[in-house]
Amino acid sequence: MSLIKMSTITRRAALFAGLGCIGLGQATALATTWPAARGDGEEIVRLYGERGRFVGRMLHVGDPLADAVVAELPGLGEDGHRLLQRGIAYGLASLTDPPPAIAAFLRSAETVPPWVTPRTFTGGSRTFMSIPLPAHAVTLSLAALTHTYSSPAIAGVLVGTGELINSTKRRLVETTDWLLRCMQPGALRRGGKGYVATLQVRMLHAQARARTLARGWNVGALGHPLGQVDLARTWLDFLPISYAALGKLGYDCTADEVADLYRTWWYIGHLLGIDPGFYLGITDHQAARRLLALVDATNRAPDANSKALVTQTVAGAADLFSLNGILPTVSRETIRASFRHVNGDRIADFFGVPASPAQALLPLAALAAGEEHQLARSFPPAWEARIKANEALAETFLALLPTSAYVTNSGGYHDAGVMTGTAPTAGSSQR
Ligand code: HEM
Repeated sequence: MSLIKMSTITRRAALFAGLGCIGLGQATALATTWPAARGDGEEIVRLYGERGRFVGRMLHVGDPLADAVVAELPGLGEDGHRLLQRGIAYGLASLTDPPPAIAAFLRSAETVPPWVTPRTFTGGSRTFMSIPLPAHAVTLSLAALTHTYSSPAIAGVLVGTGELINSTKRRLVETTDWLLRCMQPGALRRGGKGYVATLQVRMLHAQARARTLARGWNVGALGHPLGQVDLARTWLDFLPISYAALGKLGYDCTADEVADLYRTWWYIGHLLGIDPGFYLGITDHQAARRLLALVDATNRAPDANSKALVTQTVAGAADLFSLNGILPTVSRETIRASFRHVNGDRIADFFGVPASPAQALLPLAALAAGEEHQLARSFPPAWEARIKANEALAETFLALLPTSAYVTNSGGYHDAGVMTGTAPTAGSSQR
């Protein structure tokens, strides 16, 4: 192992103080199954102990329940897809004699974990909606997705799907669409917009995973495509990565707001098919960053695919703002300045995002936004009004978005809580 690699991992490991280490003999045995291009397994296990071993196992795991559905669908003929969509929107109980893999997938998604409380469905939404939508748009496009794409394992899958380099704008819009649906109050309840969208995305992932494997993905070197560790890393992009960027724009959250946010995202993790071993117990950004350090120890530096995806995203980010007239128009110059402001010069230089004179204004703007945010929080009626206004704006924004392809293909959404409602009668969609 090179000295540079050792010191990087050691620094990350220091964050995990308190987690036990296992003996070197066990580590050596494990390294034989550690994917060759996903970091130094022996070193990771030596430094992170049981949590490192868990990550090593998870590098080999996709999403068994969703993957089984993808394997089952071809045998169901034309009805398979309709059955699945009906089950996602109206529940397992709406299907007569459901096929086994679809039934197992829906049963698991519909099982409410014991840690869920009514607040799970509203708390994270309130934290999110207390922050203006334009700030979320900056954060999603310039921080979260940039970080997602910086993983060669993730970028490799995305570029391999062929479409992405040419459709990073679509990806940006559809991810915004998905996030806003999930962050509406109550939308993650069974049958709600966020619930349905998340299960649809999970199925998209399973299909992309199967296609990637069929194309001859090097599992020995890279682990399972679109695997658990990469899912967990992307989950973290919406949390410590996004909220650090929001902090740089002036929007800090209280400890309670952050705790609410994580509880809600535990549930999103559940719906996305992420192993609870990653997220349960993570209630603040500090713990999330410790997990991210471990997950990042399995990644190499961003590669040419990463650079291509980030460049396209930065180039297309201004389009997100001018999409439907809801967000303020933002110049490409401001986008570049914001990229540098939220990611820092080192990352901006790496991705070749040029410096901009507009950057000098951003710290002042953040200061003013932060003061205004604190002031609103100290006056509860203003705070409630802010949350309600952002919810309404998000609703309007969604209504004016071109319908995402993954929504159109699945027959649209249901409203939250309608699992008790009547599913449309569709003879052909029942077995
Ligand atoms: C928290 C984890 C994740 C979330 C919330 C998420 C979200 C989404 C969303 C909203 C879409 C639909 C919009 C679109 O097509 O762009 C999507 C599609 C996709 N995602 Fe993810 N994603 C996650 C993790 C990942 C990871 C780790 C990978 C790759 C390693 C990945 C690969 C893909 C691919 C290939 C598609 C497109 C599938 C298709 O269009 O056929 N995603 N994801």
